[in-house]
Amino acid sequence: MRTRQGSRTRGDTPRRDHHDWASETYVDEWVRRQQAEDPSRAARFQLICDLFPFPNDATVTILDVGAGYGPASTFILDRYPHATCVAQDGSAPMLDRARHLVTKYGARLQLHRSDLFGAKWLPAHLGPFDAAVSSSCLHNLRDFTRIRQIYREIRKRLKPGGVFLNADLINAPTVGLRQRYDGVTAARRHREGAAAEELAALVRHGRRSPASPAREPFPATLDQHLAALKASGFKDVDCFWKELRRAVFGGYA
Ligand SMILES: C[S@@+](CC[C@H](N)C(=O)[O-])C[C@H]1O[C@@H](n2cnc3c(N)ncnc32)[C@H](O)[C@@H]1O
Repeated sequence: MRTRQGSRTRGDTPRRDHHDWASETYVDEWVRRQQAEDPSRAARFQLICDLFPFPNDATVTILDVGAGYGPASTFILDRYPHATCVAQDGSAPMLDRARHLVTKYGARLQLHRSDLFGAKWLPAHLGPFDAAVSSSCLHNLRDFTRIRQIYREIRKRLKPGGVFLNADLINAPTVGLRQRYDGVTAARRHREGAAAEELAALVRHGRRSPASPAREPFPATLDQHLAALKASGFKDVDCFWKELRRAVFGGYA
């Protein structure tokens, strides 16, 4: 397996950052760490459900973009007994970790493997969708031009009145806020007892980008995302929740 950025392995999604979604070992470790945070993500997933424009007993189809091991899809399926989720992701090891869920949910969970950089990442036979969600995925593309195209593509595949909700990482809007956010994050880590050595080791092993004081790490600010959603034809675009560089934002078709 090659490890340079942009390299492609066994037909997997090419790497564009420090994540190696094509690696079984990397994905195993990542999922284990992420699952520990799932309880704290539940409030954001619940907010996403509360913003859906249909009741809990509706028969609906929902797209989960970059679904990974399926935390957002399963949260939704547990609360919408007549919903079907299409869990899209480019990583074979990730989708393997979602596969056991098909036994639980049957045809209500459909796994779809495709690269978000591919022109046919969302084939015509999937959808149209009553809602589309995405959690911690699109920032990984590191390419705001592509993210804007994906917003347009999702918009076209939503039913009238449908919604797209994106829980993702965003850049601080100003240099002053960048420094404040970095300070808050460092203070939290300190309080939580995360040893500096542990973080340094992650950076050394290429698992985390070192913080750069000169550049923000993600593709766009919240304002840029909201503008892109409006330009893609979404209405009632807003940020529904935000804390530092994390936000839930989206709009209605
Ligand atoms: C941080 S994980 C988030 C997974 C899940 N949505 C969650 O909230 O835990 C990012 C996901 O995006 C997927 N991903 C990253 N780049 C991709 C691409 N170009 N095409 C398809 N999926 C991609 C990865 O495989 C990974 O499963």
